[in-house]
Amino acid sequence: MAAMLSLPSVLSERVQAAAGIDPELRPATRPQFGHFQTNVALRLANAEGRPPREVASRLVEQIDLADLCEPLEVAGPGFINLRIRAEVLAEAATQVLTEPGAGISTVDEPLRVVVDYSSPNVAKQMHVGHLRSTIIGDCFTRVLRAQGHTVIPQNHIGDWGRQFGMLVEQTLDEGLDLSTLDLPGAEALYQRANAHLKESEEFADRARARVVKLQAGDEETRRIWQQLIDVSLVGFNATYRRMNVLLTDADLAGESIYNADLPVVAADLEDRGIAVVDAGALAVFTDGFPAPAIIRNAQGGFGYTCTDLAAIRHRVGTLHANRLIYVVGAPQTYHFEQVFAVARRAGYLPDEVSAEFVGFGQVLGADGKKFSTREGTAVTLNSLLDAAEQEAAPSIALAAIKYADLSNGLQKDYTFDAERMVATTGDTGPYLQYAHARVNQILRKAEAEGFGYDTVTVLTEPAEHTLALLLSRFGEVVAQVGETLQPHRLCGYLYELAGALSSFYEQCPVLKSEGDLRASRLALCAATRRVLALGLDLLGIEAPERM
Ligand code: ARG
Repeated sequence: MAAMLSLPSVLSERVQAAAGIDPELRPATRPQFGHFQTNVALRLANAEGRPPREVASRLVEQIDLADLCEPLEVAGPGFINLRIRAEVLAEAATQVLTEPGAGISTVDEPLRVVVDYSSPNVAKQMHVGHLRSTIIGDCFTRVLRAQGHTVIPQNHIGDWGRQFGMLVEQTLDEGLDLSTLDLPGAEALYQRANAHLKESEEFADRARARVVKLQAGDEETRRIWQQLIDVSLVGFNATYRRMNVLLTDADLAGESIYNADLPVVAADLEDRGIAVVDAGALAVFTDGFPAPAIIRNAQGGFGYTCTDLAAIRHRVGTLHANRLIYVVGAPQTYHFEQVFAVARRAGYLPDEVSAEFVGFGQVLGADGKKFSTREGTAVTLNSLLDAAEQEAAPSIALAAIKYADLSNGLQKDYTFDAERMVATTGDTGPYLQYAHARVNQILRKAEAEGFGYDTVTVLTEPAEHTLALLLSRFGEVVAQVGETLQPHRLCGYLYELAGALSSFYEQCPVLKSEGDLRASRLALCAATRRVLALGLDLLGIEAPERM
């Protein structure tokens, strides 16, 4: 990836070129020490057995940074201080304001990336796990697209399987008109069918027979099955709109689309000796996995694993993806590791195609336990959004939820605390929205007064330097998120930027200054506004003009 390097990275590379080891640049502890400091000379001196200050002076001669920095200085026992020239910083900040991607560079070799996310189940409401998957997957889609990759979202909805036997049978028993049903209604039907299944052997038999009919393409069965999907999609889509995510019906790729492929996959694996019949089931034994992957069970049914193998074949073979990303709860880690291993062995997943499972943690309630309703059932996504909207306006509530979801390591569990999440102070989504609205207000005022700005020219105060330096890092942070799939890096960066912006306000009058200084500060504000807005957008968070 040929991402444009930020100033700190360029500095680091140049020092490394002279020193031969990672300089581990640190931000200077005080403005008079410049912007960065390195102890590389001390470490080299140790190895070489030379006095550190001597090594530092030699390095200062060798490091090629005259185009970017003031003359380097040796300090104390042998530290090297680096101070970026003010006009270089100004130029970097101006680029963020004026260049198309604000520093996000598009990759030279775009990949075709499949992102498998959201993936709720038919006739069930989306729960918090689907909330996380939807928010995280949507963020990946936005980031990777901004980098120029071709992203193919795949919403692997659970629209096939044995549960449809009981759902269809229950519908017929009740003489239910499914066109009158909404998603919560379909879920209630699911629960009634489930209860019925448990209490009646006769019903259970009929449900099993109904699964066979569904698979055989029986017309009435298929019609009811399709109606259940349609009802569910209306519900899912309403939630997607409410969440302001990118998913549309075009991204649907439910389990059922692989139906015809399942026997093909099974036969292929069996013919090539990868799968073997074990106690009536067709299974793949792989080193390192305590239990085999079940391709076909003893009753002849194909399940979740076989479907995911077929999906990989499709994604690589037909969609020509060269990067696969799965955003699913951490409890499915084992399933995916095993599926990937089998797919590699079978050649469905060639070495040059990467497959990444991004397992995320749980959302916990205030009691530190898995978030659930008073009745102990999983919390629906809509009730969660409702809870946040009790505390704040919809766009703020949504920002709060999304940011809480993305700002910690994804694997970590986090506590759903609506009140804290919507606060406009602290490390929250609304705080960043507020920072954006505030800088926007200053710029609006400036424009109303006819003050023009287009270039950052004068940078005098340390707070301005800090802000400009941070702005120059934006593109690199986005590239890191695209590579590591760790959105918290972008959250942390934006939080730091918002903090630097408020220190800047404290130390540097903007509207009250004059002439070139005012124009330059306004341009710095505008560059910051741009990065805040773009950065929030990559997180899927709106940046309101006013708050
Ligand atoms: N529908 C599944 C669930 O709710 C998630 C599917 C994830 N994607 C996949 N390719 N298996 O747990």
